[in-house]
Amino acid sequence: MSTAFERRLADADSAVRELRTVRDLLRWATSRFTAAGLAYGHGTGNAWDEAVALLLWSLHLPPEPLDPWLDARLPRAERRAAVELFERRIASRLPAAYLTGEAWLRGMSFACDARALVPRSPIAEALDEALPQWLDLHPRPPTWPASILDLCTGGGSLAIVAADRFPDAQVVGADLSPDALALAAVNRDRHGLRERVELVQGDLFAPVRKRRFDLVLCNPPYVNDASMQALPPEFRAEPRAALAGGRDGMDLVRRLLADAPTHLCEDGLLLLEIGHEAAHFEAAFPSLEFHYLPVAAGERMLVLVEAAQLAAAARRARARRPGSRTAATRRGAARP
Ligand SMILES: C[S@@+](CC[C@H](N)C(=O)[O-])C[C@H]1O[C@@H](n2cnc3c(N)ncnc32)[C@H](O)[C@@H]1O
Repeated sequence: MSTAFERRLADADSAVRELRTVRDLLRWATSRFTAAGLAYGHGTGNAWDEAVALLLWSLHLPPEPLDPWLDARLPRAERRAAVELFERRIASRLPAAYLTGEAWLRGMSFACDARALVPRSPIAEALDEALPQWLDLHPRPPTWPASILDLCTGGGSLAIVAADRFPDAQVVGADLSPDALALAAVNRDRHGLRERVELVQGDLFAPVRKRRFDLVLCNPPYVNDASMQALPPEFRAEPRAALAGGRDGMDLVRRLLADAPTHLCEDGLLLLEIGHEAAHFEAAFPSLEFHYLPVAAGERMLVLVEAAQLAAAARRARARRPGSRTAATRRGAARP
């Protein structure tokens, strides 16, 4: 009796022999991925989309459109290359973008490997949609934003999308990881942004010590300990330091919000990704006023905080500290 591995090889061989069109291969890969229980979330959300991304890359075609190719018959060499890539995805449980070395975000292509998180932050979508809508209601001067900081920039995707969307802004991308920044430099050069995107290394705001920005973007590590324990292999393939946010996911966010007021201009904004940690965020910052910016993936995944709201929260926190005059007054007032 053959082993499971031999059966899989025989199955792949017969796929190369018998399948003919792009549609055939996508259907086959979708069934294989589903049977293998793969996890998604690195730019695609289901087995079909994952198969489309891998197949189009393997055929040297752009990520869209798909329709014109669906009935195209493929020569054997292309069928073999595609089936091998599908099988590598299943055997390695690596995100597709680590296998292809390329990720797409809002129509822009990024070099991608295990030195940094796979680009997928909904902050990029918000730069195109929810943020301009919010700014229509809360206008800034026409030159705003002149300066943008992408904190925790990883492979640099958000810094680069921001530089693309705000062509008059100077952008800084900062990260603790020299490896991630090396990848960010590749991406910056790929998009010809050496003049406008500066990359700096260090802990949070340390490398931009005295500088203030109109707009601070941050997709920090925010996955809480319990969720970290349950991560599927595709997510464990990413740098742990890019994901792990401590017990409630808010370790780095606490430091970020404490330091942000000294790095934002007067009408500055902090746009922060918190993913599915809205409950933890609200519990950690009960007296902070802020706005949720809706994106396709959810209503409460992105937080927008105005510089004035951060300053007010800092004042309230100082007032609550034991020994402060306001705290004493409050305690006194509460006594029967
Ligand atoms: C969730 S990833 C975001 C990467 C990229 N901005 C994106 O959206 O794809 C978080 C990044 O934060 C960086 N990081 C973790 N701790 C940091 C710290 N204390 N200071 C600066 N960067 C840090 C990690 O190296 C990682 O690149």
